[in-house]
Amino acid sequence: NNSEAEKMIKVHELLKKMYHHLLLNTKEGQNALNYLLHRGFTKELIDQFEIGYALDSWDFSLKYLLKKGFELPLLEKTGLIIRSESNGSFFDRFRNRIMFPVKDAQGRTVAFSGRSLGNKQPKYLNSPETKIFNKGRILYNFHQARPFIRRKQEAVLFEGFADVISSVHAGIEHSVATMGTALTEEQVKLLARSGGTVVICYDSDSAGIEAAFRASKLLVEAGCNVRIAKMPEGLDPDDYIRTYGKEKFKNDVIGASLSLMAFKMEYFRKGKNLQDEGDRARYIQEVLNELSSLPSGIEQELYITQLSEEFSVLKETLMAELRNINKRKR
Ligand code: GTP
Ligand code: MN
Ligand code: MN
Ligand code: MN
Ligand code: MN
Repeated sequence: NNSEAEKMIKVHELLKKMYHHLLLNTKEGQNALNYLLHRGFTKELIDQFEIGYALDSWDFSLKYLLKKGFELPLLEKTGLIIRSESNGSFFDRFRNRIMFPVKDAQGRTVAFSGRSLGNKQPKYLNSPETKIFNKGRILYNFHQARPFIRRKQEAVLFEGFADVISSVHAGIEHSVATMGTALTEEQVKLLARSGGTVVICYDSDSAGIEAAFRASKLLVEAGCNVRIAKMPEGLDPDDYIRTYGKEKFKNDVIGASLSLMAFKMEYFRKGKNLQDEGDRARYIQEVLNELSSLPSGIEQELYITQLSEEFSVLKETLMAELRNINKRKR
């Protein structure tokens, strides 16, 4: 029922404040705070994102929440307290982790993601799915970003929480991230409803590029205009900002993002020698295949003109091939 969900949110809100306090004001939180400051998270960012620290304890949160009057069955439903299968005792899910509150579109804390200090696995531990938390329906920072997304008619989509936080610090306030999973239809709807353009800013490794292509397919189908920001291989957006600074990130990464088609054309060129006729033909074929799924005939024509000029192939030949591709598709 409704009041159960409200209680679960209340539990999250209380714990969020407690974790934040533990990070900032206690000796036990010192190590975690140093880690964050050392990584370049400022005090202002820690406040803005309400980042916290879960103590290295099996029952600190459990005792705290019981003292606040919540009952065990409810606490178990939040996923924050786990019941041991072997002996039935209860313990804290999050221990010795940096805590990122995860909020729904109304700004209510409905889950946490906890990052381990150092290299302990898993690096990020998320709340389980509950009555109030469905990770496929939530975008990290959507609540804060939404008014900026509306105003700019644009959102910037990242892979990681740290990327979002650094990006906001760089002045890009319309930044959001998935919860470490592939972009879902529900998340696409959230983005499509609030803004026209989505700039995808994933890691530039092959996993990131493939994820960006899958995400862009869904976004285009939902009517979004997709752009792709390129990152030097080996860095993620947060690394990039810390290495090269905010201005360079704004200008050379977000500002220099490519239209999806331009990004794909660059991608198809990789590993090909365009002096070679075979490679050149394969490249043109790949581009035409891609063009055939563009909804706009005008855009198609613009790219056809570009290809025709670059490779000295008649526009008529390219058009005919495009029609062939379309016929084969149907
Ligand atoms: P930092 O190392 O703190 O900078 O994290 P990152 O954001 O760069 O992490 P990474 O690029 O490895 O992963 C991107 C996102 O995937 C993270 O923000 C998480 O949401 C998610 N993720 C990463 N590692 C794990 C994991 O071990 N478990 C789960 N459930 N999610 C993860
Ligand atoms: Mn600052
Ligand atoms: Mn990655
Ligand atoms: Mn990363
Ligand atoms: Mn990172």
